[in-house]
Amino acid sequence: MAEIGTDISKASRLLKKNELVAIPTETVYGLAGNALDPIAIAKIYTTKDRPSFDPLITHVNNIADASTLVDSIPKLAYNLAERFWPGPLTLLLPKRKHVPDMLTSGLEKMAIRVPDHPITLELLKKINFPLAAPSANPFGYISPTTSGHVDRQLGEKIPYILEGGPANIGLESTIVSIEGKVICVHRLGGLDLEKLQTFGEVIVRNTTEAKPNGPGQLDSHYAPKKKFIIGKLDDLLLEHANSKIGILSFSKIYSNSNKNIVLSANGDINEAAENFFSALRTLDNEDIDLILGEYVPQKGIGKAINDRLKRASYF
Ligand code: TXA
Ligand code: MG
Repeated sequence: MAEIGTDISKASRLLKKNELVAIPTETVYGLAGNALDPIAIAKIYTTKDRPSFDPLITHVNNIADASTLVDSIPKLAYNLAERFWPGPLTLLLPKRKHVPDMLTSGLEKMAIRVPDHPITLELLKKINFPLAAPSANPFGYISPTTSGHVDRQLGEKIPYILEGGPANIGLESTIVSIEGKVICVHRLGGLDLEKLQTFGEVIVRNTTEAKPNGPGQLDSHYAPKKKFIIGKLDDLLLEHANSKIGILSFSKIYSNSNKNIVLSANGDINEAAENFFSALRTLDNEDIDLILGEYVPQKGIGKAINDRLKRASYF
């Protein structure tokens, strides 16, 4: 098990020695290492069992720090950064030469964001390099929203987890590139499309049909080990009446058993996002044969939850 604590100096010392540290963000916990050092980057890939074709997101303190890593920031990207950083927005921007190719899996653009968490922002201030940080889970599995989630899966492999409490958004950042005047969304996430639309035309390219440019776009991802079926819960319950089941429902209770987790009793879509990964993990660890779930309303962050539901239940 890893040590869990709030010692930012310790985290910074470890990172400077090319060790990995799990860090809290407002979206999910990240597995962080020096984004400019290929040794630290390689450790991230091996610790997560992540294929090397899946590029990493780089975390910085502010727009000024981002601009030291990228060749240029288009005006529209700059406006988005000014409005939404720190926050759950990742921008794809052309990287400078000194940024290792390993970080981007050879792509010309790097993914970059300013996380909205006081502990991680303070840590970034203390070190003089940016942090590469994918979600701190084994590749393909449910993302971690608490330090305990990280510890249970990666605790043996890393020395330290910075405690920052449960992630308050609970889903990964929205990834966008700017193409001319168009905002192109590559991964639905914590920042609503509605908010992006106030800045211009938004197209979503996070489809499962297109050739994926990252495993966040793979058909199967964020997946529990148990079989997970999404549909109309009333029908699914009849169909699977003879199985040991867990239920992941949006706001309605379908069973009095503690194996029915309700994401938000009063139908609050943001609360549902915050609880989503944690609920899926809890059910995955129950003594059941299968998990039944339903889609949530397609509004605001609900679109990103439904995207995760679809990929988590793909088999
Ligand atoms: O909220 C988040 O973004 C969290 C926290 C820790 O910041 N991080 C996260 O990282 O979700 P990860 O590695 O689990 O997902 C990163 C996604 C991958 O699907 C990857 O393919 C995509 O970002 N990505 C990274 N760099 C890219 C690039 N240059 N072009 C296209 N996609 C990229
Ligand atoms: Mg991930």
